[in-house]
Amino acid sequence: MYRSHTNGQLRLNNVGETVTLSGWVQTVRDMGELLFIDLRDRYGITQLSFRKEVDAALFAQSRVLGREFVVQATGKVLERESKNKKIETGEIEVLVSELKVLNAAKTPPFTIEDESDGGDDLRMKFRYLDLRRGPLKKNLMLRHQVNMEARNYLNGQGFIEVETPFLIKSTPEGARDFVVPSRMNPGTFYALPQSPQTFKQLLMVAGYDRYYQMVKCFRDEDLRADRQPEFSQIDCEMSFVEQKDILFMFEGLVRHVFNRVKGFDIGEVPHMTYANAMKHYGSDKPDIRFGMLFKDLDDLVKGKGFPVFDGAESVVGINADGCAEYTRKQLDALTDFVKRPQVGATGLVYIRYNADGTLKSSVDKFYTEEDLKAIAERFEAKPGDLMLILAGEGEKTRKALNTLRLEVAEQRGLRDPNHYKFLWVIDFPLLEWAEDDNRWVARHHPFTRPKIEDLPLLATNPGEVRADAYDMVLNGTEIGGGSIRIHERQLQEEMFDALGLSREEAEHKFGFLLRAFEYGAPPHGGLAFGFDRLVALIGGAESIRDFIAFPKNNSGRDTMLDAPSTIDEHQLKELSLKINLAQPDSKG
Ligand code: AMO
Repeated sequence: MYRSHTNGQLRLNNVGETVTLSGWVQTVRDMGELLFIDLRDRYGITQLSFRKEVDAALFAQSRVLGREFVVQATGKVLERESKNKKIETGEIEVLVSELKVLNAAKTPPFTIEDESDGGDDLRMKFRYLDLRRGPLKKNLMLRHQVNMEARNYLNGQGFIEVETPFLIKSTPEGARDFVVPSRMNPGTFYALPQSPQTFKQLLMVAGYDRYYQMVKCFRDEDLRADRQPEFSQIDCEMSFVEQKDILFMFEGLVRHVFNRVKGFDIGEVPHMTYANAMKHYGSDKPDIRFGMLFKDLDDLVKGKGFPVFDGAESVVGINADGCAEYTRKQLDALTDFVKRPQVGATGLVYIRYNADGTLKSSVDKFYTEEDLKAIAERFEAKPGDLMLILAGEGEKTRKALNTLRLEVAEQRGLRDPNHYKFLWVIDFPLLEWAEDDNRWVARHHPFTRPKIEDLPLLATNPGEVRADAYDMVLNGTEIGGGSIRIHERQLQEEMFDALGLSREEAEHKFGFLLRAFEYGAPPHGGLAFGFDRLVALIGGAESIRDFIAFPKNNSGRDTMLDAPSTIDEHQLKELSLKINLAQPDSKG
């Protein structure tokens, strides 16, 4: 028997018992005659004590223990003289009478404490040591809990989990596919699924009615804080539903999860159309924890002789309430911020609404007091506010203003991660223009159902067609998205036509789905939550990396495994693959 209790278990009522504990040495405090060890496992920390006067040989043995040694200790539970209120076992200690080193350990390359001294790279390389730290352990426990509660909810609603294959056919649309060569079919490749989209639709055709899957998805795209090449979805699909049924069902899922995990009621989730989101926030995933809505100013500012505004396609701004006190230095910093290439604005115009009611702008010479008053009225500004204005090409300017809005909110502490605001963004456009390919592409995916009333526009004005597609947004992050699907062969073919897919290509790529639609496909729809994102936001973080046990780094590498890596000649040959080895390998 390795242990009678875990390191998180013992309390005052165990005093007097003889117990056996196993775990890792977190710290050693050697006081000369007395030595303390904090013994750690997943469940907590228990203090072990060794006294020279009680057993000198054992005391000497305890002195060879180093950090992260794995040990087993037997002894008597005593009430501590100086209690530690910070840990649950802080009222007791175990006076050790028998000690066994189960495995020695090298000194770890960084401290395994809540605040570690290890850099990112080092911690990734020794991920199993990093995972011993409290914050990561907490994140993975949270992940497990959210997973369990999501399953509980879905199981309770009659959903069944069905696994779908990972080795599928490559149909690049959206991100790039990861591909896997087939040994048995030389020269051919499987692709790893970007999502189980077509399979869950086929399960609806098969009559399964309510499906879910906690599933890995694979996308070969550039990494960001909230993106990993392999990530997890809570993937769901339902039959005989309209959009409102889906929104209701999955709002219920996050409500349940937040109730159980955070003890927090998310309330009713508001709906906002895509058009309004873009108009008021310049983003399809607005952070609605704070205001600062966009105001268009073209009619008020053009034609007054200020060339920057006169020549701009669009002049638009936000009102930062209570920010009139921003110093010159802060405003210069904001100007530099919007001029960075990532943001791309050409400059920033501001109007201060001073406490005494006067208005002062950075372009005073072009605008009268009356002009500025009219602008302030548009912003519904009051004394003490600061109006920030950008001008330029329409879409680019709104995008830049969105970034500025978030930055100002960040600076003002309005993006509190413990304040949760959910939002459904609905009525997304069906298509978007892909400049590089010079064609329309599906905004969500090609199986998304156009709004029937917009269908006539598909041939004449495709960009105006709206879809029965929706995203769930939490604090400015898209945590899920889905749509009502096309379930008729003819409409699906029309959609492929609009995407510029020839009938042959459509048959080659999606013939299986088109055929399935001829054998009794029910109306259906669904959505998928980004599970990693959901968990990270619940955990108060924006980066998903520390909520995944073994993530990839920013260049898509697992530095612990050293993957991806080359494979040997023999494997290449078996796979009928030839690699030009003169190419430098992409390691880095
Ligand atoms: P979509 O592509 O919108 O929809 O993905 C659903 C959700 O998955 C999360 N997500 C990611 N999370 C981490 N890393 C990534 N690289 C990544 N990419 C996406 C997002 C997103 O909202 N089959 C459809 C769903 C449907 O229509 O039912 C789909 O995959 O939170």
